[in-house]
Amino acid sequence: MYRKTYAKIDHNVLTTNIKEIKEKYPDYQYYIGVVKNNAYHHGIKIVNALKEGGINYFAVSSLEEALNLRKYNMDTPILILEPIDLDYVYDCIHNNLAITIEALEDIKVLDKMKFSYPLKIHLKLDTGMNRLGFKNQKDVEQAKKIISENAKLELEGIYSHFATSGITDKEWDNQLEQFLELTKNINLKEIPIVHFGRSLTLVNHKKIDFCNGIRLGIIMYGFSQSKKHPTTFKEKLRESKKHHIQKKLHISETMTENELNLNTAFSLYSTVMSIRKVKKDELIGYNASYKVEEDGYLATIPIGYADGVDKSFETVKIKNNNFPIVADSMDMISVLVDKSIQKGMEVEIFGNQILISEITQKLNTNAYHLFNQIQNRVPRIHITNGEEEEINY
Ligand SMILES: Cc1ncc(COP(=O)(O)O)c(C=O)c1O
Repeated sequence: MYRKTYAKIDHNVLTTNIKEIKEKYPDYQYYIGVVKNNAYHHGIKIVNALKEGGINYFAVSSLEEALNLRKYNMDTPILILEPIDLDYVYDCIHNNLAITIEALEDIKVLDKMKFSYPLKIHLKLDTGMNRLGFKNQKDVEQAKKIISENAKLELEGIYSHFATSGITDKEWDNQLEQFLELTKNINLKEIPIVHFGRSLTLVNHKKIDFCNGIRLGIIMYGFSQSKKHPTTFKEKLRESKKHHIQKKLHISETMTENELNLNTAFSLYSTVMSIRKVKKDELIGYNASYKVEEDGYLATIPIGYADGVDKSFETVKIKNNNFPIVADSMDMISVLVDKSIQKGMEVEIFGNQILISEITQKLNTNAYHLFNQIQNRVPRIHITNGEEEEINY
C-alpha cells in the first residue's frame, strides 16, 4: 500500500457473528451467506471466515461473482440469485453453482439441452415483490414436473424474497400466503432447500415452519436491526402506535428486540498527510467554502469523495479526539485539528470509536449503502488471527 488510506476487515468478528447467530437461531439446516457485491464491499475473501462460523451455502448476484468466489473457496455450494444467460450453464455445472430459474420457458430450454452432470436449480417465486419469479401456480407445478423427469436437472431449492419487514405492514403476511398458494400442490418436503427469509426476517418473525434455509446478508456484517426495549416517552409512544397498526391490520406476531450480540468487522482509516497553520479569516478548499474562525491547525487527509467520504461525515477521530471536517474534494478532506496532531498519525473515519450507526444517521442512509459507498480503490486489509493481508479489488 502506497497511499495510506485503507479499510480493515476483521475476520474473527465475522466468524463470531455467525456463531452467535447460529447459537440464537439454531433451527435451520442451511445458513446461506449472501456475499454479493464483493461481500457487501468487505471483500470476497471473507467467505472462509463466514464458513468457519457455520455458513454452509453462499449466494451471489451473478456468474462473475460466483466464479470470483470460487478463487477463495472451492467446495461450498453457491446459488446465483439473478437468472443467468442459459448459454453459460455449463460453467455452473463445472463450478458447483446452482442457478435461479424464474420462468417456465427457461426450464423448457434447459430440458432440451444435454449435460454430462446434473444442473442444480432453485425455482424463484414472485410472491409480491414483482421483481423476479414465477407468478403462476400451474407454471411452478409444470416446472417441477419437467425437472423431476429429467435426470440431468436437479431441483435443489425453491425460494422467494420478502419486500418488507412486516412490522407495520401486511405485505409480509401476504407474501407468505402467496408462497403457500403457489406451492399448494407441491410437496415442499421433497425439495432439499426451501428458503424465504433474510436478515430482518430472522430476527423479527417466528421461524417459517416450511423453510429449512435462511439467507443472511446485512446481519452477518454486524447489523441485527434490533431496537432496544422502549424506555423514553417517545419510544413508548412509537411502540404503542406500532401495536395499534399491527392489531388493525391483523399482522402476525413480530419481535423488534433480540438478544444478538453482533459487531461490525469493517473499519475505515486514513493518515494525516500534511499539516499547516491557518490564521483567522483564511479560506479553505474549493470555492473557498470555509472561513477559519480562529488561528489554528489544519490537517489534510488523503481520502475524498472518490473513496466514498466527504464533508457529510462531519468528524474524524485522531488520537481519541474528534476533529471537524471543514472541506472535501475528490481525493482529500481538510480537518481542523490542534497542536498535538502530527503528520503520519492514523485517522479513524469509522470503526471502533466512530460507529457505523453514527455515520449512517448523519448521512441519513443505512449500512447497505454506506458499505457500498466505500469504493474499491480503498485497499482492504483482511485480518485473520492477527495476520494481515492487503487486497486491492
Ligand atoms: C434475494 C436476496 N436474498 C437475500 C438478501 C440479503 O438481504 P439482507 O441483507 O437484508 O439479509 C438479498 C439482499 O439484497 C437478496 O437480494
